[in-house]
Amino acid sequence: MSVNIGTDQELLLENGYLNIEIDPALDIFYEIEKLKKEKNAVILAHYYQEPDIQDIADYVGDSLGLAQKAEKTNADIIVFAGVHFMAETAKILNPEKKVLLPDLNAGCSLSDSCPPDLFKLFKEKYPHHLVISYINCSAGIKALSDIICTSSNAKAIVDSLPKDQEIIFAPDKNLGAYINKTSGRNMLLWNGACMVHEIFSLEKILRLKERNPEAKIIAHPECEEAILRIADFIGSTTELLKHTEVSEFSIFIVVTEAGIIHKMQICSPYKTFISAPPDNACACNNCPHMKLNTLEKLYLCMKHELPEITMNEKLRIAAKKPIDKMLELSRSFGLGV
Ligand code: 13P
Ligand code: SF4
Repeated sequence: MSVNIGTDQELLLENGYLNIEIDPALDIFYEIEKLKKEKNAVILAHYYQEPDIQDIADYVGDSLGLAQKAEKTNADIIVFAGVHFMAETAKILNPEKKVLLPDLNAGCSLSDSCPPDLFKLFKEKYPHHLVISYINCSAGIKALSDIICTSSNAKAIVDSLPKDQEIIFAPDKNLGAYINKTSGRNMLLWNGACMVHEIFSLEKILRLKERNPEAKIIAHPECEEAILRIADFIGSTTELLKHTEVSEFSIFIVVTEAGIIHKMQICSPYKTFISAPPDNACACNNCPHMKLNTLEKLYLCMKHELPEITMNEKLRIAAKKPIDKMLELSRSFGLGV
């Protein structure tokens, strides 16, 4: 990732974010709203962002909704409150716009688990396979893929392909295994995983369920198979949110990143949401990458228009093709926003 800046700003950005002191008396919410109008900027936030960021965002959604919003926006500046691959996707779709990410260190363990050079060698062994990659990957992986998918559209995309089409699915082995199971496929899976969704403890969730027998277990398909087997409902973050809204049940054990509970509680104020426990005593059901963004970093990033996502044009064009394919297919399925 490269950042094009002058020397002063280079110093400020040496940590991957602007490290400038903010007057404690400043009303950051007010200032962010002002900057949005002055600069014609839009804030797109993922459900895993901290509550303050979700509340000030113009749109909060899952990876598919965010990519679709990024494709359609008329703003001059897209401020991405999410992780690097999400901001990178927005830049791929909007080369003429400025795309900002409050902290460039906001990466993704799943994306990191699939380096383009190794994946290229793997792909070369299967020249007749189509490559479907989960959007949680770098632009380098996207450029090596035929179609991008998210957890909201992966099954529909796979189902739309001829039954005899051989497929490589990367980088999430858990989502891939779930799609194999639900679609009756035998896709070749890259051995990657999300550090947050792999850490949930089956034993602790079962004990929690014993203590709350009326609670329904809802899980993201990035979780391991053993967890998905005990889930009452499986879906992307948006699907989980919608499910809790329409469900006749009122207590849920939520087996995904804990940030989604903020929106679930707003949409269903009288329902109870219990965050599923990880396999140790830490707060590992919070994504450490997503949580690198703070309201303060968001404000500074909008004020100084840094850090900015930049990209090699050849790579951008190659990475855009499979994203366009996903957006086109999602439109034809009526999926997303
Ligand atoms: P979705 O936004 O597709 O639900 O994926 C969750 C996730 O892990 C994003 O990083
Ligand atoms: Fe990546 Fe997992 Fe964090 Fe999502 S929750 S950004 S997949 S590490």
